[in-house]
Amino acid sequence: MQYGKFSKDGSEYVITRFDTPRPWINLIANETYGLYLSQNSFGFSFYRDSQTVKVTYADVTGYVPTHPQTGKFVFLRDMDTGHCWSNLPMHTARGYSGFRCVHGQGYSRLSARCHGIQTDFLALVPIGADPVEIWEITLRNCSKRTRRIKAFPYQQWLLSAPTGITDTLTYTRVAYRPDLHAIVARMTNSTAPLQYDAFMAADFEPEEHDCNYDRFMGAYGSLSTPAAVIAGRATNSSASGERMCGVLARTFELAPGESATFRILTGVSHADAEVKTLMARYLSDGACATALRGVKDYWKRIREGMRVQTPDPTINLTANIWAKWQNYHTTRHARGAYRGFRDLLQDTMGFTPVQPAYTRQALIDVLQHQYANGLCIRGWSPISGKLDTRKHRDSPCWIPLTLSAYLRETGEFAFLDVPVDYLDTGRATVFEHALAGMRRLHEERAPNGLCIIGDGDWNDSLDEVAVKGLGQSVWLTIAAVYAMHALADIAGACGRSGPCGQLRAWAQELKTAVNEHGWDGRWYLYAITDDGDPVGSDRNAEGKIHLNVQTWALFAGVAEGARAASLLQVIDETLATRYGPVLMHPAYTGYVKGIGKVSGKNPGQAENGPIYSHGVLFKMLADFTRGRGDKAFESFLQICPASPNNTNEPDRFQGEPFTATRYLIGPACPERFGAAPYSYHTAMPAWTMQLLYERMLGVRPSFDAMIIDPCIPAAWKKFEVVRPLRGATYRVRVSNPDHVQTGVRSVRVDGKKIPSNRIPLFSDGALHTVDVEMGSV
Ligand code: GLC
Repeated sequence: MQYGKFSKDGSEYVITRFDTPRPWINLIANETYGLYLSQNSFGFSFYRDSQTVKVTYADVTGYVPTHPQTGKFVFLRDMDTGHCWSNLPMHTARGYSGFRCVHGQGYSRLSARCHGIQTDFLALVPIGADPVEIWEITLRNCSKRTRRIKAFPYQQWLLSAPTGITDTLTYTRVAYRPDLHAIVARMTNSTAPLQYDAFMAADFEPEEHDCNYDRFMGAYGSLSTPAAVIAGRATNSSASGERMCGVLARTFELAPGESATFRILTGVSHADAEVKTLMARYLSDGACATALRGVKDYWKRIREGMRVQTPDPTINLTANIWAKWQNYHTTRHARGAYRGFRDLLQDTMGFTPVQPAYTRQALIDVLQHQYANGLCIRGWSPISGKLDTRKHRDSPCWIPLTLSAYLRETGEFAFLDVPVDYLDTGRATVFEHALAGMRRLHEERAPNGLCIIGDGDWNDSLDEVAVKGLGQSVWLTIAAVYAMHALADIAGACGRSGPCGQLRAWAQELKTAVNEHGWDGRWYLYAITDDGDPVGSDRNAEGKIHLNVQTWALFAGVAEGARAASLLQVIDETLATRYGPVLMHPAYTGYVKGIGKVSGKNPGQAENGPIYSHGVLFKMLADFTRGRGDKAFESFLQICPASPNNTNEPDRFQGEPFTATRYLIGPACPERFGAAPYSYHTAMPAWTMQLLYERMLGVRPSFDAMIIDPCIPAAWKKFEVVRPLRGATYRVRVSNPDHVQTGVRSVRVDGKKIPSNRIPLFSDGALHTVDVEMGSV
């Protein structure tokens, strides 16, 4: 591919052209702080929330930082010739050579040569919770004469706060502080729910500095012609109520072949003492190298934990490296400080095998946003404390799924008895919270037995189905069946037979209602509006068939017999496209009252008929349920950014090859069909983690056993999964001599044959080898 490729071990993406189809952006972040950085250093830093707390400026609107307009640069000036340039090509490659960007996990390294000076720029965020980023810059003189090069490392501050106050400038002052040897940008807005300072320091004593953007750039200057760089002197400005920047300038004299390295530390602080502590920690000798080693070790350990070896490089790259990396970020940052109830549950569900303790805490946080009547809110902000009190009725459905992942991982059934407060009054155990959600779904149904959709369900954009409070969702009713069985499984596994039986009985009632009132003739309806009109019916002019309701009907066991047998074929016939199955068809071409905002969205985009990654993964789960390993694999390769389907067509796909996207644009938007407009903000990595490991390769912990149940492409002859669980490690080696997609013929554990595909769990902390032969029995 013409723009770049994965490194040999897959842990880095190497970009060799500065003009990728759109900026290819790395997310470099720890628990509290991070930056989005493109291959040519455009991007911005954020603190705790990538959407509302932007520490530096980038002119990015919306959730996803696809086109930052400014970033982190090192302007350079030859003090003898007066030539000025920046370390990387911004808008044209003219004059530059050797451009190279390495996006790694936790760092990026950006290099180019111009005017005989090679510049290497490393940006990293240390592991842990220190809200800082480090830049390490090396200038090398590749010319034949001694050079005096003045460097102006630069960024533009914003210091936004999650308040809705747009006029951040009025509340911010920035100046160089000689006592600290640092620039400090101070927020003075006493009403902001999150108050912080930003700072920028170097490991050298700056000759000059600038804090005032207009003074540094010149009133009419731009990134390609900063006035101070042209003049060869920063202006020692400060700023209050004016546009702000951070610049610390220094001249380096370099003999031919000689190089010089310096470091910049920038980030967030709350007091001068904290600036001093962070500078001592990260600007001392060897500190940057130590931080980089820490970052690399952290990610290496994660890569080398649970892992796979299959015949397909895309599956290996995704399961071992990039889905884990992105899933870490979705649990912390992808939706910013907005904690979506369902989003956090899904994201942590996927990451449970890697960090179960994080899931445990997330479950507690989430349950605190449920009311005693079982209803849950749509989301909340941990920074401002603001609640999004829309009551999407699907919210409780995700609790049992994540709870199941946690209990299967850890076996900590005592967690079910931990008391957690309700949002309104009282408290109840974790199990009772989960049960209250299911009870509410069972109670809040229309006379036809289907669940009332309320403010919405998974599909946030179907938001007018029940404005009068009567509309029902068939998908939601099915999701409730799925969740009730998941919770019944948990109850059964820990001797709560009463609730177990009750949940199964509720699920049966809902299932009957779906099959009586939710069937359209060839597929399931999505919903029924307040006025009794069908949504997702052959009788509709647009939005006739929705993917999720069909796939969930299959894996929730709601569709049976002839319906189950025909549904996937119906999907293949009506929803398949060359880039994957669409979420809904045909897309709405204009707003329809009673449906909601989905109908007003651009055709082929968001929920209006795109190839929604989430939806495709649910489709794969339906494929696995029906033994279609080949079909699931094919669908995954269609949406996976690292797959040759997409890396071979980068100008069509446009997105980063290492980052999952929320959706690919659907055929209803022919000019952008197959483009990936929406990186980072997606539950795709979480479902990828769960489905690849547990369903495709089929190494799936249950509460008391390791189940081996693969559903793979028939062409695969063998594969291997290494799965640590509760201290022991299972090395599962699977052979497939008959080229089947599913079916286990024999299992040997440490050489001894066992009678089924359920391996009793070991608690000896040892490595156990499991040899599996697939085939018909
Ligand atoms: C976004 C939301 C997710 C929702 C989906 C469909 O991805 O984050 O929660 O289910 O849109 O509306």
